[in-house]
Amino acid sequence: MKEMYFPLRYRLSLFHLLLLIILLSVFSYAIFFGTKNYLIQNTAVSLRAQAKPVIEKWLHSGSGDTDYLKSNGRFLIENLGSRDTSVMILNASGKPMKPDGDFVLSEAAYYRQSLSGDNEVRYITEKNGSPSLVVLIPLRKVSDPSEVMGVVRLSTPLAPLERILARQKLILMAGIILTVFAGALIGFWITTVSLKELSTMVQTCNDIAGGNLTRRINLPRDNDEIGQLAKAFDNMITRIENLFTAQSRFVANAAHELRTPMAALQGSLEVLMRGAQDDRDSFLRLTRGMYREITRLSRMSEQLLDLTKIETSDVLHKTTIDVKKFIAEFVQYSQVIAEERTLVCDGESGLHITVDSDVLKQVLFNLTDNAIQHTESSGTIQFSWKLTGMDINIRVSDDGCGIDPASLPHIFDPFFRGDSSRSRVRGGTGLGLTIVKKLVELNGGRISADSISREGTVFTLVFPSSRI
Ligand SMILES: Nc1ncnc2c1ncn2[C@@H]1O[C@H](COP(=O)(O)OP(=O)(O)OP(=O)(O)O)[C@@H](O)[C@H]1O
Ligand SMILES: [Mg+2]
Repeated sequence: MKEMYFPLRYRLSLFHLLLLIILLSVFSYAIFFGTKNYLIQNTAVSLRAQAKPVIEKWLHSGSGDTDYLKSNGRFLIENLGSRDTSVMILNASGKPMKPDGDFVLSEAAYYRQSLSGDNEVRYITEKNGSPSLVVLIPLRKVSDPSEVMGVVRLSTPLAPLERILARQKLILMAGIILTVFAGALIGFWITTVSLKELSTMVQTCNDIAGGNLTRRINLPRDNDEIGQLAKAFDNMITRIENLFTAQSRFVANAAHELRTPMAALQGSLEVLMRGAQDDRDSFLRLTRGMYREITRLSRMSEQLLDLTKIETSDVLHKTTIDVKKFIAEFVQYSQVIAEERTLVCDGESGLHITVDSDVLKQVLFNLTDNAIQHTESSGTIQFSWKLTGMDINIRVSDDGCGIDPASLPHIFDPFFRGDSSRSRVRGGTGLGLTIVKKLVELNGGRISADSISREGTVFTLVFPSSRI
C-alpha cells in the first residue's frame, strides 16, 4: 500500500503544537490546584487563628470543664459566630449540643479524629450544592488539657474563594488558547520558512535526475544543517559533473584514437583491393603500415583494458619491499631495453614501502619506457630514492629532450602526447602516464613531474615509508 504523503512541515508543526498543549495544560493544572490548596489552607489557618483566643478566654472565664461546657457553651457559639462563620459544638460523644446544629453522619469520622486530640482536622462539605470549609478545634479541659471534652466546628462558605478560582481558571484557559494559537501560527511559519529550502532541494534533485547536471542548489548560507547539506550536495554534483565530463571526453578521445588507425587500415585495404598487391613495393609498404596500425590498435585496447581494470577492481597484493633491492633488480632487467643508455641507481639502504610489487614494476617500466623514448642513445636515466619526513621519494630522471611548459600540466591526461609526431611514429597512445598516475594513487602514493626543455625530466613518486 502506498504511504500517504504527509509533509514534514505539517508533522513538525503538529508535534510542536501537541507538545505546547501538553506542557501548558500540565503547568496550568499545577498552578490552578496549587492556588486552590493555598487559599483553602489560608482560610483554615485564619479561622483557627481567630477562634483560638476566643476559646481560651471563654474556657478561663469559668471552670473550663464538662459542666461549664454544658451550661455556657451557647456563649462560646455566640462569641465565635459571625456573618461568614457558622459555629457548632459537639460533645465528647460527637453529638451536636443544643441550641443548634444537626448531626451530619458523614462527618462522624472527622469528629472522632478531632475528639481523639488531633488539632488540625479540616475538610470540605457540600450543602445545597455550595461547598463550605469546616475546621474542627478540640475543646480541652482547663484542669487536664489532655482530655478533650468536646469539639468546636467552624464552617465558612467557599463561594468567594470559588469565585476567585473560577476567574483564575478563565484566565488560564484564555492564556492556553491564546498561546496555543500564537504558538501554532509562529511554529508553522518557522517550519515552513526553514523547510522551504528542502522543497527547493527536492526540485533541484529532480532536475538533476532528469539529466541537467549543471543545476545547483546554491544556498547563500551554510551556517546550519540545511545550508551544509545543500553545500555538500552541490559539491557532490560538481564532482559527478566533472567525472561525467571527463568520462565523455575520454570516450570521445578513445573513439577518435581508434578511428585514425581504422581509417588508415581501411585506406590501405582499399588500395590493395584495387590491385596494388601486384606491385611488390607498394604491397610491402601497405602491409607494413597495416601491421603498425594493428599493433597500435592492440596496444591501445590493452591499455584501455588496463585502465578499466584499475578503475573497477581494487584488489591489490601489497607487500613490504626493500626499495634499494627492488629498484636494483628492476634496473638490471631494464638494461636490455635501454640499449646503450646509462642506468644509474642511487639511494639509502634499509628503506621500505608497502605496495603491490607488480604494480610498482609496471609504473617504473612505463616511466623508464618514456625516458628511453625521449633521451639520446648516449643519455643517462637515473633512479634515486630518499626518506623525506614520513615519506619515501623515488625519482626517475633523464637528461633527454624534456617537456615544454605548456604540455607539462597535461601529461597525465588520457591520450595526451606532447611531441605527437615522435610518439605516433613509435605507436604511443598517450595512455601510459594516465595508467601510471592511477596505479600510484591506488597504492596510496602520489606522482608529480618536473621538466626543463632540452635538459631533462624528473618524475617523483611519493609513498608512505613502512618501518620493519
Ligand atoms: N621522460 C619524458 N621526457 C619527455 N617527455 C615525456 C617524458 N615522459 C612523458 N613525456 C611526454 O608526455 C606524453 C605522455 O606520455 P605517456 O606515457 O602518457 O604517453 P606516450 O608515451 O606518448 O604513449 P604510451 O601510451 O605508449 O605510453 C608523451 O607523449 C611525451 O610527450
Ligand atoms: Mg609512455
